Amino acid sequence: MPLRIGVPLETTPGEKRVATVPDVVAKLIKLGFSVGVQSGAGAAANCDDDSYRAVGAEVIDSAEALWAGSDVVFKVRPPSLDEVALMREGSTLIGFVWPAQNPELMQALQAKKATALAIDALPRQLSRAQKMDALTSQAGVSGYRAVIEAANAFGRFFNGQITAAGKVPPAKVFIAGAGVAGLAAIGTAANLGAIVRANDTRAEVADQVVSLGGEFVKVDYEEEGSGGGGYAKVMSEGFQAAQRRMYAEQVKDADIVITTALIPGKPAPKLITAEMVKTMRPGSVIVDMAAEQGGNCELTVPGEAAVRHGVTIIGYTDLASRLAKQSSTLYATNLLRLTEELCKAKDGHLDVNFDDQAIRGLTVVKAGELTWPAPPIQMPAPPPKPRAAAAPAPKAHGHGPGEPMSAKSLVTVFGVGAALFALVGAFAPASFLAHFTVFVLACFIGYMVIWNVTPSLHTPLMSVTNAISSIIAIGALIQVAPPLMGGGGDRPSGLILGLSVLALVLTAVNMFGGFAVTRRMLAMFRK
Ligand code: NAI
Repeated sequence: MPLRIGVPLETTPGEKRVATVPDVVAKLIKLGFSVGVQSGAGAAANCDDDSYRAVGAEVIDSAEALWAGSDVVFKVRPPSLDEVALMREGSTLIGFVWPAQNPELMQALQAKKATALAIDALPRQLSRAQKMDALTSQAGVSGYRAVIEAANAFGRFFNGQITAAGKVPPAKVFIAGAGVAGLAAIGTAANLGAIVRANDTRAEVADQVVSLGGEFVKVDYEEEGSGGGGYAKVMSEGFQAAQRRMYAEQVKDADIVITTALIPGKPAPKLITAEMVKTMRPGSVIVDMAAEQGGNCELTVPGEAAVRHGVTIIGYTDLASRLAKQSSTLYATNLLRLTEELCKAKDGHLDVNFDDQAIRGLTVVKAGELTWPAPPIQMPAPPPKPRAAAAPAPKAHGHGPGEPMSAKSLVTVFGVGAALFALVGAFAPASFLAHFTVFVLACFIGYMVIWNVTPSLHTPLMSVTNAISSIIAIGALIQVAPPLMGGGGDRPSGLILGLSVLALVLTAVNMFGGFAVTRRMLAMFRK
């Protein structure tokens, strides 16, 4: 019997998301599962009961019947203890669990001999896990929504305009913390035409801020803010004081401040003081995305929008749910990708395989046994950074991409090259020498060009050189053109003509294909 996946109505007040959407139900059925959805579960995310029925799901009236009849339950929010009581013994729960924050839930799941896969415990550092990363998909939606909420509360345009009625300056947006949510907010605000500045303690995000249309503002204090795994660490007193000075200036100048700063397992750092709020112009807006973890602003009221000193401070904790259709669709896809990993045989059964690091990481309870926290994942050590001040170590052989050759190896290469050239010149005919010179020069120029291009552009470069290198076309054209144009000279045999036409066709595919691939690759770098 294939397993049955159940999707209950979310019971947390105000939660509008649903754990799966009709498009995904169809794919789950293709994987061999049967799907039951509680009546009304998708209503707030614009997925009515009929849309689920249409793709083959069974709509079930009561929560009791749904939980009791499901082998696997897909949820968004962690289930309440009442919901766990409805669960069938030995069944599987997939959704947000937050095991550290919910010890009672963890005990209840163990007592039910359940298997719980906590999507929040997914090892996000594995690149294979990205497709299942619901924290990222939901934070991206929330960052976007934070800007929309700010725009709603703000009484002006985001973009600058010159109209007959006067000049409107662009809004100035300052974003604190450029993680997933912060980067989504930067892109959205920049697209709306605002001037966007952002700060983060991790210097490595500066390029990402710029690539999304923002300006990175640095704290005038040297300290590395990365705490490993892509997360931040608590900064020193000296850094915090310098950061407060910089924030005081930025906040005073900004119309909108969006804060997303968070250090995992710690209360959110207080970055915006009451004094800073007082310096903002009336009508300005602060969206504090870290409200649930205590807030980045001293005056935030979690879950509410409050006006303090003429500034609207938004502390909503349900930003993703406020864009329920979008966040549910992305979340449903994350769970589908996880289910595909768990059901490689496509037979409607789950294989919770502990040899798979991603699955091991997110399994917090297995058949009633506590399996959380998972052992840490050993990632390969990053290559050591070259120290700017240190003298370059002498190298025995070769050199890496981008590094200039040492004078000694240059002399050796040229010496050997010249000797070979003299040798060939002594024996080969003059015409060969001419072709050979062009060949050597072409190799040299090709080498210099490719070596100095950034690695990310290698593929477009290779495709374009591939297209250009279709020099064969000229040879084929010389064979084909005179007879076609009725010119004199020896007419080539039919075989040569046929081969030339074939060469032309194949070369045309290579040329146009090469240029088409280059266009597509370069389009990926354009906004
Ligand atoms: P993240 O952990 O990826 O990003 C947090 C960023 O803040 C990191 O880039 C970190 O380096 C930076 N940061 C930490 N301390 C800082 C400091 N003192 N100064 C400047 N930057 C600092 O988290 P993610 O996924 O981007 O989420 C951001 C926040 O938004 C979190 O607090 C999260 O709980 C919250 N969130 C809120 C939602 C809502 O509905 N209100 C929905 C989704 C996320």
